[in-house]
Amino acid sequence: MKEFHHVAVLDFGSQYTQLIVRKVRELGFYAKLYAPEDLAHVGQPGAIILSGGPRSTSEPDAPDIDFALLKSFGAPVLGVCYGMQLLNIKFGGTVHASNRREYGPATLQPTERKGIYAGLSEFSQVWMSHSDTVDVLPAGTTVLAANQHGTPVSLQWCEGFYGIQFHPEVTHSHEGIRILKNFLSLADNLQPFQIEDFKREMIEGIRQTVGTKQVVCGVSGGVDSTVLAVLLKEAGVNVRAIFVDHGLMRLDEGEEVRKNFHRMGVEIETVDCAGLFLGKLAGVADPEEKRKIIGNLFIDVFWDTVGDAEMLAQGTLYPDVIESASNAKSKASKIKTHHNRVDRILELQAQGKVLEPLAELFKDEVRELGHSLGIPADILNRHPFPGPGLAVRCPGDITEEKLRVIRECDAIFIQQLKEEGWYDRVWQAYAGLIPVKTVGVKGDERSYEWATNLRAVISEDAMTADWVDLPYSLLRKASHRILNEVKGINRVLYDISTKPPASIEWE
Ligand code: XMP
Repeated sequence: MKEFHHVAVLDFGSQYTQLIVRKVRELGFYAKLYAPEDLAHVGQPGAIILSGGPRSTSEPDAPDIDFALLKSFGAPVLGVCYGMQLLNIKFGGTVHASNRREYGPATLQPTERKGIYAGLSEFSQVWMSHSDTVDVLPAGTTVLAANQHGTPVSLQWCEGFYGIQFHPEVTHSHEGIRILKNFLSLADNLQPFQIEDFKREMIEGIRQTVGTKQVVCGVSGGVDSTVLAVLLKEAGVNVRAIFVDHGLMRLDEGEEVRKNFHRMGVEIETVDCAGLFLGKLAGVADPEEKRKIIGNLFIDVFWDTVGDAEMLAQGTLYPDVIESASNAKSKASKIKTHHNRVDRILELQAQGKVLEPLAELFKDEVRELGHSLGIPADILNRHPFPGPGLAVRCPGDITEEKLRVIRECDAIFIQQLKEEGWYDRVWQAYAGLIPVKTVGVKGDERSYEWATNLRAVISEDAMTADWVDLPYSLLRKASHRILNEVKGINRVLYDISTKPPASIEWE
């Protein structure tokens, strides 16, 4: 029988590393992520990709690779950005360290349009994000492509060893997928990726990890925790699903969550602790501190209230892991602490008590998994909602009054999107608060009230996002209703910021 091999992606800490994994999966092959120091445990990969990373190879403790072991696999190897610089050094060349970052589009000009550049355009836009560059090339190196200034941006050191300075995995590299596909075509017998296989593997993994232990699983009604709860039920483990109402939910959300789980036949227990959360958050304005308070309280509630729990299951997705950069082996920079990556959870994780079966997946893959678990489409298509809830849509300190205002604005905006057929066309939408009071006139009177920001974005994976060109007529109606119906708001703004440099939530 033919033996299949997976694609091993070695993570040097780029914000985009998991996107490589994901693009490989989109191309139909099974890929797994490893820390470079775990190279000895990757089995027999069919192809190996070294990711980019934020460090410089010139730093004394820069991430390294066991080069002899890497060569011993006999699999094709692709070094991306930092990965390419590291390989250039390993083959005997040098890297020029620089503090100046080249960030953005560049034009790729392949020397010959064959091999990994087969079928590419003569000039192709690629995305750069790096400071260092390769300097001296080892003897025998072939330059496969240059940028618009004639600088080499892609190398081949010997048969099967390739390097590219740009990021093929991001959508701004227009033909990046084609380059990855060409590279993977050099490998033999790659293992196909199918969500059904993945589901079976996950269920098997969950059964093995959990055994007979009592698991507690937090549900919020969001896609991730819903898929997780159903997955745990399918795995037949001993689980209690807890819905913590932290007082930071949207209008009537608690009731909707209870109804949805009832429809799916999953029993949930509600813990009402709005007072506890809002009490601890009173007067706290710093975004990171707010996130940490909420994340730690969540755990206090699960772990301490549900006394007999032996494991905590979380619907953590890959973007939560990468933006929190909290994985002990992660080399990425921290953007914000996601609620499921706070200290108490990291402590439990160190004790092997945290179960995160979805941590390798992106949102749309979780939806696909949910679909294969039979979860109704309207539940799967709910927009993402952050664990810390309205707290991250209320910059600065949180009060009941501010939460009321956000809830009312948000309900109107979402209702308008649904009525006009836009809800399912955008990836995520909400109304938040801009806690700045400005002067206006309401009726014949002076008003001095806050503003609300409406946000609607499209995204593939939450790592990047673009604002949506909503019809002016829709924005006009939403604004008119909010200004007339919501006490406390006299200005409505539409957020036209992309991610990066902004993020989807305001905190
Ligand atoms: P940002 O604001 O980082 O958000 O661009 C990316 C996506 O993640 C959601 N988000 C969170 N989800 N816990 C979550 O489960 C969190 O702490 C958290 N913070 C942001 C956000 O709504 C968006 O979909």
